[in-house]
Parts: sequence; C-alpha cells; structure tokens
Amino acid sequence: MSISLEEYQQRRQTLMEKIGQGTAIFRSAPLAVMHNDVEYPFRQDSDFYYLSGFDEEEAVLVLAPHHEQHQFILFVQPKNVEKETWTGYRIGVEAAKKEFGADEAYPIEELDEKLPDYLKQADCIYYHFGRDEAFNNKVLNHWRKLIAQFPKRGTAPSAIADTNFILHPLRQVKSDQELSLIRHAVDIATEAHNQALTIAKPGKYEYEIQAEIEYIFSKHGAKSPAYPTIVASGKNACILHYIDNNKQLEENDLLLIDAGCCYQYYNSDITRTFPVSGKFTPEQKTIYELVLEAQLKAIDEVKPGNTYNQFHDKAVRVLVEGLVDLGILQGNVDEIIEQEEYKSYYMHRTGHWLGLDVHDVGGYKVGEDHWQTLQPGQVLTVEPGLYLSPNAKLAEGQPELPQRWHGIGVRIEDDVLVTRDGNEVLSAGVPKSVEAMENGISANQGS
Ligand code: GLY
Ligand code: MN
Ligand code: MN
Repeated sequence: MSISLEEYQQRRQTLMEKIGQGTAIFRSAPLAVMHNDVEYPFRQDSDFYYLSGFDEEEAVLVLAPHHEQHQFILFVQPKNVEKETWTGYRIGVEAAKKEFGADEAYPIEELDEKLPDYLKQADCIYYHFGRDEAFNNKVLNHWRKLIAQFPKRGTAPSAIADTNFILHPLRQVKSDQELSLIRHAVDIATEAHNQALTIAKPGKYEYEIQAEIEYIFSKHGAKSPAYPTIVASGKNACILHYIDNNKQLEENDLLLIDAGCCYQYYNSDITRTFPVSGKFTPEQKTIYELVLEAQLKAIDEVKPGNTYNQFHDKAVRVLVEGLVDLGILQGNVDEIIEQEEYKSYYMHRTGHWLGLDVHDVGGYKVGEDHWQTLQPGQVLTVEPGLYLSPNAKLAEGQPELPQRWHGIGVRIEDDVLVTRDGNEVLSAGVPKSVEAMENGISANQGS
C-alpha cells in the first residue's frame, strides 16, 4: 500500500496547471540536531513529500511547466559510499530520475549553477518562506540577480508568491490512495487503543500503557507516533498536552489516552477516556455521557454543504446546556456561548483537518466572516472534551466548581471522513459507549 508514481505525477500536473508561466521551488526538511551531532529522526516536509514521495534531506524540487526540456527537476544528495556508511542509503541522482520520474536530476551542490535556468523565463517564483533562513536568502538572491539582468534579457519573475495558497487546497481533499493510508494509520491506532483499554489497571504506570501503544504502532510499520502520546490519568487529564506519562494509575482514576500513529506520513489521531477500575463514579459517568452526547451530535453535523464551524457550534451548545443543567455554569445558554464563558472548562476547538500533517493544512475560513463548506474527501477530527480543573480561571459571575467535579477530564476524539451523503467515522473500531468503557471492548465492539 503506497501512493503510486502516477498519482504523484498527477499532483504535480495539477499544481503546474495552476502556476502556468511560473516556477515553483520546494525545499526538503533540513536535518534537525538534538544535541552535539546526534540527530532527530528525519521527517520530510509534507509539501515536498506530497509532490514527490522523496524522503531525503538536502533536496530541492523544482516545477517549471514552461521550461522547454524539464518540467520536474530534483536536486539531491549524490551517491557517496563513504558518507552512506555513516548516514545511510542515498537514492542518488540517477535513481531520482528513474524511480521518482524527474525529467532531470542534479547533485544538490549544483543548485546555484542550475536554478537560474529554470527561473529566468518564469513570470513568478512560487516559494514558501520556511524556517531555513539561509535557503530563503538563497532564493531571494537568485531573484535579485534575475531582476538586475532584466533590462538586457527582457524576462525575469516579477513576483514571489507563496505556494501554500495553491498547494494546500489540493492537499485538503484526499484521494482514494491517501484515504487507504489514513485508514491504515487509523486501524493501527484502533488496535493500540483497544489493547490499552484491555490492559489498563490500577497499579500500572502511565508509561507502561504508552509503551504497549507505541509497540503496536511499530509492530505494524508505523514510522512514529503522530504526536507525543498522551496517557493522562486522574487530574492529569485536565492538562491538554500532558506527556509526562509517569503517574501510577489509581483506583478511581479516569484515563485519557490521546494516541495516533504516522504511517507512510499519513496520520491518525484518536482519544478515549475510561475508568481504570472498570466503573465510572456517578460524577465521572455524568461528564462522560455529556461529552459523548456532544461528540455524537457534532459528528451528525459533518456532511457536505454544512460549514466547518457547525459541528463545533453543536458540540459547544450541547456541552453548555449540560453544564447549566448540572449547575457547573449558571445563566442563559446563549449568553454563556456568546461570552465564551464555557472556555474555563472547554478551551479548544472541536477538531482540525487530518492528513499528512496531524493538524493538516488547508484553510478553515473563506474570508474573515465565512467558514469553509465541507466537501467529500476531507478528513477531520471531532474531539469535544470537558476539563474540570479546580484551577480553571472562571468567567465573571460563574460559580466556584463544586468539589465533587474536581479533576474530571474527558475527551473523545474520532477521525471522520466527509462522504458524498454524510460522513464515515474511520475510527469506529474503538468503542466509546459507557458499557464498553466500563467492561472492555468485548462489551460493545464497534459502538
Ligand atoms: N493529539 C493532538 C490533537 O488532538 O489535536
Ligand atoms: Mn488527539
Ligand atoms: Mn486532534
């Protein structure tokens, strides 16, 4: 299972049709150094990968649709037996052409010499200014030189435009091949969550659960977790990005697990919350059922034609109505929503796009006042939660949180595909009913 060469070619073709007389430049991710000369695992830039499937550092991808000989050009690290002994296999210049379909490939050292050839006839350079300042300056310097030569040559790019505006809308709608990879990442994470639900018991440490989850990721060939795995018991569940994962699970704890994996660069992102001793306390159950109701009703709002904010607004309304019924918030539901007084206990949005990046690219809004309309092929998360921390900063006039709710944190997160007539919950294989959360997956498989 992987993206075919034809699909990469199709992606480049679509982009080239959009840039016409322009030339687009994409920089690979640089190697990141952890300390001294120890490196972080390499992670390719997602735009670069989307257009090529090429998974090495120190590379540059150029698309020049107007160029007479070469439209797709790769600059890569050349083969070098000595260096490969230290840092691993390199694809090399020849294979960059043969295996990745480049019309021409050069050693990266020749970039400065060859690049002007692909820029000089272009009316515009398409480039996203990234974190690598030296490379940003390199692109600017090439542009300056071409502008200086304009009077004599008669051509030069007159502008630099950001590639995000043309590429990210393409990345936002997933192809069938992309969906297969996302489904696979979701299936691996599904097995990991179900295993966590089976093995979590009072006395275990959060990191033991994390280890089982990440073992399952690796066992199935996932490159890495999609983000640092969150295994948060008891009041740790009220810390949104808790990653210490070093507390021992206690009898009455809820356990919030937010874990997903990265498979061939496509990601899953799933959260479940359950009682480690197999029984919710009445307060935990009340909050769990409220978040579950908000999540199910929010998912119902994920369908073509609805705007991106509708599922968030639905989740907020259900949560606020519930919190008012419980006396945790006081006042008129509409006013609490309008004044955002619920943010003491629900401070994040209900989802995000999901794909090559966990928080995937693509806009949420069209202009300042309008949200994007959902369309088939988009994948997003639906992840409402409530975090009843006694330290929450309260909106003016809202009551202190009664002791019995203290430290309850619940989030339920699924990965959802927008389909032609509604949606498909890709992570439906991880149960979430109260019964399943109390009695394990066999109680309610798939609900
Ligand atoms: N785990 C990151 C997120 O849910 O957005
Ligand atoms: Mn998550
Ligand atoms: Mn998420």
